[in-house]
Parts: sequence; C-alpha cells; structure tokens
Amino acid sequence: MSSFIFPKNFLWGAATAAYQIEGAAKEDGKGESIWDHFSHTPGKVYQGDTGDIACDHYHRYQEDIDIMTELGLKAYRFSIAWPRIFPEGKGRANQGGIDFYDRLIDKLLEAGITPAVTLYHWDLPQSLQEQGGWAKRIPIDPFVDYAEQVFKIFGDRVQQWITLNEPQVAAFCGYAYGNHAPGLQDQAAAVQAAHHLLVAHAKTVRLFRQMNLKGQIGITLNLTPTYPASTSREDQKAAILADSEKNRWFLDPVFKGTYPEDMAELYRQKLQAPRIEDGDLELLKRANIDFLGINYYSRAVIGQAAPGSSDFYQQVRPDHSAYTDMDWEIYPDGIYDLLVRIKHDYDDPHILITENGAAFQDGIIQNGIIADDDRLDYLKQHLIAIHKAIGAGVRLDGYFVWSFMDNFEWAYGYTEKFGIVQVDYRTQSRSIKKSGYWYRDVIQNNCIQG
Ligand code: FCB
Repeated sequence: MSSFIFPKNFLWGAATAAYQIEGAAKEDGKGESIWDHFSHTPGKVYQGDTGDIACDHYHRYQEDIDIMTELGLKAYRFSIAWPRIFPEGKGRANQGGIDFYDRLIDKLLEAGITPAVTLYHWDLPQSLQEQGGWAKRIPIDPFVDYAEQVFKIFGDRVQQWITLNEPQVAAFCGYAYGNHAPGLQDQAAAVQAAHHLLVAHAKTVRLFRQMNLKGQIGITLNLTPTYPASTSREDQKAAILADSEKNRWFLDPVFKGTYPEDMAELYRQKLQAPRIEDGDLELLKRANIDFLGINYYSRAVIGQAAPGSSDFYQQVRPDHSAYTDMDWEIYPDGIYDLLVRIKHDYDDPHILITENGAAFQDGIIQNGIIADDDRLDYLKQHLIAIHKAIGAGVRLDGYFVWSFMDNFEWAYGYTEKFGIVQVDYRTQSRSIKKSGYWYRDVIQNNCIQG
C-alpha cells in the first residue's frame, strides 16, 4: 500500500456558498438577490426549489462549526451575501447582516478554523439587476464599495479573500444559457458581463492593496482542461479554441491583462463584444493576485463543430468513462494536467483548489454510516493526482472539498448532493458521511493511504 504525504501546513478545507446553505432569505433586513428572484420564477429551478430555508445555516452555524471541528477542518470557505450587507446593492449598510458574519467569523476563529471568504458567489442584489446587472458597468463600483465595507469590518480577522467565484459561470450560465440567474439568453451580454466582473475583481484587488490589509487576495476560476476528440487537425484546433473560451478567456486577463486573440477575434466578428473601456486592461494587468483559486470538476473532450452549426466547436462524451450524477466525466488526470499547465503558462502562481467534489445520491447505510463510496473514491483519486502535481513543483497550498454539506445545487434544486455531510431537509439534521470520516483521517494524518 502506498501513502501520499502532503506538505506541512497544507490547508485542508471544505467549501459552501451563501445562497446554497444559509436560508433566512428575508431575515434581519436582507435584500432580494437575483437568486431569490430567479428561484421564485416558475419553471427555473427543478421542482420549484428555492434557497428560502436551504440548510438553515443562518441559524445553525454553531452546530455546523461543531461538525467542522469534528472533521478537523483547518479552513472553511464560505461566501458573504452582498444583499445582507447592502440590501439594495449600495447605500446604507445593514447591521443585521454584518452581525451574522461577525458571529460566524468569530466562532470559526474560536474553533481554530481559518475563514476563506468569497465576496461574490453569484447573489447580485436584485435592484442592481433591474438596472442591467453585470451586462452593464452599473454593479462595478457598488461591488467595490461593498468590498471596502467588508474589508473594514472583517479585514482584521479574515486573512484569505476571494473576490469572485467562477465569473465564467456567472456570466455565461446567467446571461447566455439562461439556466442560472438572471436567466438571460444573450451571448453578447454574457461576454460583456464577464468583462465587467473581471473589472470589478481588478478594482477590488487594487482597493485591497490600498487599504494595506494583511491577508491575501485571489480569484476563483472554474477551469476545464480541454482535449481533442481525435488526432485530426480539425479536432486539435477546436480543442485549442475551446481552451481559449473556457479557460484562457479568464486566465489571460487575470494574469496578463489581455484576452486571447483567437477568441477575441471571433467574439468581435460575431457579437461585437466585449466593449472594453480605456484603462480596463491596464487595471487588470496591475491587479496582482496572491493566489489563484481553482474549481475543478471535470475535463472537456472537444471535436470540430458539426457541419452547419454556428458553434465554434462541440463537446464529445467519451463512452467508456465513468460519470457523476451531474453527468460530469470523472477524470482525475485532468486536475494534474491543469495544475502543471498553469504553473508553466502563468508564472508559477500560488494555487488553492477552492472546489472539487462529486454529486452522487447517498449510498446505503453500513454500520450506521452513509456509505458514499463513490464520492470517497472520487475525492481520493483527485487528491492523489493533486499530490502528484505538488511533486511536479506546483505551488499548491490547500484544498477545499465541495461541499461541506448537501445544499441547494442551483437549477438542480436539492436533488443533486455534493456534501461530505448529509442534510435531511425535513428535520435539518446533519450526518457525517463515510467520505467525511475518510477526509477527517486524511486531514489528521496529512496523508492518503493508497
Ligand atoms: C460550482 C459552484 C458551486 C457548486 C458546484 C457544484 O460551479 O461554484 O457553487 O454549485 O459548482
């Protein structure tokens, strides 16, 4: 049996997001977010599920921190709901919302758990959406003001900040595919929204430096390594283009202040987007991050676009692979390839895996424990691949399982389960799954037994 020992001080964590777990949708002065609005729009979320109650974490955070302690988590990644702090997106800060995160952060620190805080995990205040949302520049300055307020209040206690979670998903699922809030189907608006999100990120990093805070700041990108479906020249070209659209469209501006030319040319021709104002790219170029957060779930196998289609390429589903309940291919080598590639192409940044995990229905109960062996196996295979990447010199400082507990999985509602802790939504009782106990042992030993 081989064992895989992780570096000393490796940050073992688990992640959640505000709208997916908190509930308390209208409590203590919270304003409406685009996800409140979207989930209450008939037909948008599976079975009409909403985040109104979710895991009721807003009231049960102490119990949840106790479970984190039992798991031995060293860090916990969560997001702050902007509309709890500024119900209308801007204006007067709401003390009720501030107090909640104050309590949460203090209790985490008391438990010896490092908070890693995401400022934006998709819950834009609805009133800013009504002025056009991220398709316009409107939310940029309010976002920076919100960040300033949060830095002022929590900057003494929080050392790890993530500006945005997955701007690619926020922009494209929200504005082009329409399956996420705000539910638009306008590709040009999506490309524009992605740009505005990145500008908001860059301005926030600049502010963070100006405020001289002692922590670290980064951004979380969902990255999907692409592989050609065959050795044909066409498929190889298609895979490169897919990489530009999915990955480099975000990596290049964040690290270099540029957009990849192949994709930029196509967007210009087809969509006349994005409109970039003077200074935007310079701002991005100067916004040096302390670490890159990566969310990795799967790869994409890419072939040339079908004849007659207006798409730039098509994704192919490999037949002989295993898949999670999301129908995402299980491909642990992808995280290794991705990490090594980022090291080489983007000047060897510090990296945190801010999400990785798998949706599976709960397994049968064995010895009184939910036996989610498929999730356990997924996590184990990915952590072994990550260990190999560290061996190849990647500066990987930590890993957060998605998710700490089962929660509201966006358009899938409560059907898809990612937690290492089960939530029974009827009673709100929590049970650590087998994968959770396994993760506890990994953390304790700082090592995986192969
Ligand atoms: C990511 C999201 C996260 C969760 C996982 C499954 O795209 O950041 O909130 O829904 O997918």
